[in-house]
Amino acid sequence: MEYRRLGDSDLLVSEVALGSWLTYGGGVARDQAIACVRRALDAGITLFDTANVYGGGGAESLLGEALAGIDRSSYILATKLFFPMSPRDHGLSAAQIHKQLDASLRRLRTDHVDLYQCHRYDPETPLEETMDALSEVVRAGKVRYIGFSEWTPDQIRRSLDLPGVEHFVSSQPQYSMLWRAPEPEVFPLCAQKGIGQIVWSPLAQGVLTGKYGPGQAPPADSRARSDDMNWAMGGLLRDDVLEAVQALGPLAGEAGLTMATMAIAWVLRRPEVTAAIVGASRPEQVDANAAASGTRLSDDVLAAVDRVLAPVSRS
Ligand SMILES: NC(=O)c1ccc[n+]([C@@H]2O[C@H](COP(=O)([O-])OP(=O)(O)OC[C@H]3O[C@@H](n4cnc5c(N)ncnc54)[C@H](OP(=O)(O)O)[C@@H]3O)[C@@H](O)[C@H]2O)c1
Repeated sequence: MEYRRLGDSDLLVSEVALGSWLTYGGGVARDQAIACVRRALDAGITLFDTANVYGGGGAESLLGEALAGIDRSSYILATKLFFPMSPRDHGLSAAQIHKQLDASLRRLRTDHVDLYQCHRYDPETPLEETMDALSEVVRAGKVRYIGFSEWTPDQIRRSLDLPGVEHFVSSQPQYSMLWRAPEPEVFPLCAQKGIGQIVWSPLAQGVLTGKYGPGQAPPADSRARSDDMNWAMGGLLRDDVLEAVQALGPLAGEAGLTMATMAIAWVLRRPEVTAAIVGASRPEQVDANAAASGTRLSDDVLAAVDRVLAPVSRS
């Protein structure tokens, strides 16, 4: 496993990270989920990404259970807040930051998280209030660094312009061969400001592994077949997308790679990307994904990927 420094922080993180949306405390059974976390540690994965809202707290509880007894300084915990935990508990107000962080720490069975991320921007709370409260929890030692997910360049700039507050060190955008939206603006702005990218759904929820064929029923053990986990896959399972993705198979084969390895190496080709946050429903997938670390794609392969996916990828 290779490691990269997260923005201007002193956090050295594995370039392949393990995510927990939909899977842990959700659609993947407890024992299997714990086995995935343990396999990740064995594979040298040190960055674990979660959120208070994943599984209604279940993902954090599962991670807390799976990581109990393991040297706390040997792994890096990243969690988030913003989405509703109850009808009255949502957003990035000072009260919510203190309340949600304390609840996350209890579920994660720890006294601090390494990275606390704003899951989205909160237009209903003054940015000053959010940044002041985030700074308080850093100074109280409950959080080491702060980050955001899917903020616009303007929102990022305004947070950095505020005086006397902690600065963000991480950005968590969706980024994959099929979703290139953060490349033109978010990547260069963040690079200039010491903010690293830890990117989500680098396999496009499994679509980029090639397991879904156009016009075919999804495999029985896949996310697309799970009523608990398939609700956000609609746009990815279109036939035109699946046809284009099938054309990646021979490219990966000629390069001696699996499609999953090629997709993870593709996001890691960018120096702005600190880590690919990959989900896994089985320990074997964790091994396969961790093995992508250190893989470099040739210019010919990169050009061929661009050509094949241009009609369906979002820039
Ligand atoms: N900040 C945000 O708003 C946000 C949003 C979404 C996700 N995230 C983070 O990003 C993480 C990753 O996102 P994601 O899980 O949606 O997408 P992903 O990593 O692109 O896809 C993960 C899924 O692909 C399948 N898979 C993984 N490795 C495989 C392999 N080697 N071979 C075949 N299939 C494989 C598994 O599903 P099956 O085996 O069930 O098919 C797995 O659950 C999340 O867990 C979360 O931590 C953040």
